[in-house]
Amino acid sequence: MTTKSATPPARLPGSARPRAAIAARTLRTDRWWFAPLITVVGLGAWVLYATVRVFMHDFYWVEKYSYLTPFYSPCVTQRCVEGSSHFGQFLPGWWIIPDAALTLPFLLLFRLTCYYYRKAYYRSFWLSPPACAVPDGHKTYSGETRFPLLGQNLHRYFFYAAAIISLINTWDAILAFRTGDGSFGFGLGNIILVGNVVMLWAYTISCHSCRHIIGGRMKHFSKHPVRYRAWTFVSALNTRHMALAWITLGTLALTDFYIMGLAAEWFPDLRFIN
Ligand code: FES
Repeated sequence: MTTKSATPPARLPGSARPRAAIAARTLRTDRWWFAPLITVVGLGAWVLYATVRVFMHDFYWVEKYSYLTPFYSPCVTQRCVEGSSHFGQFLPGWWIIPDAALTLPFLLLFRLTCYYYRKAYYRSFWLSPPACAVPDGHKTYSGETRFPLLGQNLHRYFFYAAAIISLINTWDAILAFRTGDGSFGFGLGNIILVGNVVMLWAYTISCHSCRHIIGGRMKHFSKHPVRYRAWTFVSALNTRHMALAWITLGTLALTDFYIMGLAAEWFPDLRFIN
């Protein structure tokens, strides 16, 4: 018995033969759903943790060792604990305003528009498509040609903001070598803060926009040897952009959790000097 389909099967490009009509949603038999699933779990858990921490308004500053968590840097509301505000307190201390309201929106937009994260959440949260050779979860597809996804093109500008914020985080890590009484100090917290900053720089510099800013719009690399070397370095980092995106989520959460634990006196800092 033969069945009649409503629309004729599409033809293969450059061929007179029609495509085979396949009733199955996908012919993939591997665990293609695992990557989107793990992304949902990982990103979902991180966003939940970060949201709770940002609106906790507590346990973000260890005065004894000058440790400030990156989730509260720079601390700019009038609610900020004395000593934790390295750039002034010019916003009201309302609960709804994050203490790092100056930087968090830009960091969020930087990550949200990141080429890697786009792929991650388009696939895992929007199923658009969830994996190669698996049909899209939506009937129509307009890509990034319309509002709001058209805004993804602003990523290059958020990169500049993220670079400035990385400078601020670097400054925090340097200040953390000065203990509360003004002397030099060095502990496990310093290693964690510096490690986080190094990873943040690696992630920021490995950005696709950064690579274009450094090596784009040039006709001859031979006439720009310094830019060529920088572009080569950034290109090598860029191949690890996905890994760095996940590593920095981990180092950010670890740094914040460690400082929260110290501030809440759950455990002491491991000190090597002072
Ligand atoms: Fe990921 Fe720019 S592409 S941060």
